[in-house]
Amino acid sequence: MKEELKEVVLSLQNELKECTKEADILNVKSKYLGKKSTLNNYLSNLKDMTVEEKKVNGPLLNQMKKEIEKLVETRLEEINNQETNNFDETLPVDYEMGSLHPITIITNEITDIFRKMGFTIVSGPEMESDYYNFEALNVPKDHPARDMQDTYYLDNGMVLRTQTSDNQIHAMENYGAPLRICAPGRVFRNEDLDANHENTFFQIEGMVIDKEISIENLLYVMQKIISEVMKQEVHLRLRPGYFPFTEPSYEIDMECLICGGSGCPTCKNSGYIEMLGSGMIHPNVLKSGGVDPEQYTGFAFGIGLTRLAMMKYKINDIRVLNGGDLRYLKQFEIN
Ligand code: DAH
Repeated sequence: MKEELKEVVLSLQNELKECTKEADILNVKSKYLGKKSTLNNYLSNLKDMTVEEKKVNGPLLNQMKKEIEKLVETRLEEINNQETNNFDETLPVDYEMGSLHPITIITNEITDIFRKMGFTIVSGPEMESDYYNFEALNVPKDHPARDMQDTYYLDNGMVLRTQTSDNQIHAMENYGAPLRICAPGRVFRNEDLDANHENTFFQIEGMVIDKEISIENLLYVMQKIISEVMKQEVHLRLRPGYFPFTEPSYEIDMECLICGGSGCPTCKNSGYIEMLGSGMIHPNVLKSGGVDPEQYTGFAFGIGLTRLAMMKYKINDIRVLNGGDLRYLKQFEIN
């Protein structure tokens, strides 16, 4: 039996040498230690042997079992080490770079321009009180202008802000006059969704308060900002508008960059594209912010950042922006 066992060990060693994978080794292991193995056969025969035979063969078989286990173990370690050493760190890895969202790109761009013109960039809360979103902006509870800005009224009595104009009041309270701020941010409206309407979009608010500020200052700043964003000199048009927080109020339009003002589908044949609302800050709003309207005047404006991004990147469906479909968003990758 001893001779036979020696043979077993030899053939085990040969088979182990041939193994290249862990799975191969485990197969060999079960062949030599499993139920049908020669070793197991001897072990089950032990009980039929005489006491003398048991005394000799018992320890021999045990020792053999240990040796087989050890050989298998050693070969497993060898293979595992080889696998680790074979790791090729130069192999290409399949990963993708993320990219900035178009709204983030345009926000960064426009705030850089404002910063260069001496504006401080501020931000306010998206969950806002009725006071900051409406009342302090000269929109009392029963004001018809509230109808144009239906929003989400929260259980805690707050609202999701409908406009970044709430920052006007926060800024006056925080910094007083004179003042030059701009505030980009997310706003919400209770809208039916379509290609041009979203319940969540972005604006950027601006406000300048100082002595003897006039509409000319407003126009100059707007002309500079929009031209820089569009990377070309733009022509602006002032139209009378209505906002409760400004008096007088204006809508500012940009001559269509696609058709140069002659009319095309993008500008709906009008030659102009609506860009922003603006005006001279209403005395009531200055008072809400603790600024004396007898001493100071100012202008304010609100630009639709989402609209701007859509125009700049020629996105014709607003829902793409909040949709999270990377196939669209990746097109705006910048390095
Ligand atoms: N908050 C206005 C809106 O969402 C936009 C706006 C108009 C802001 C005139 C202003 C402004 O600061 O002066 O429609």
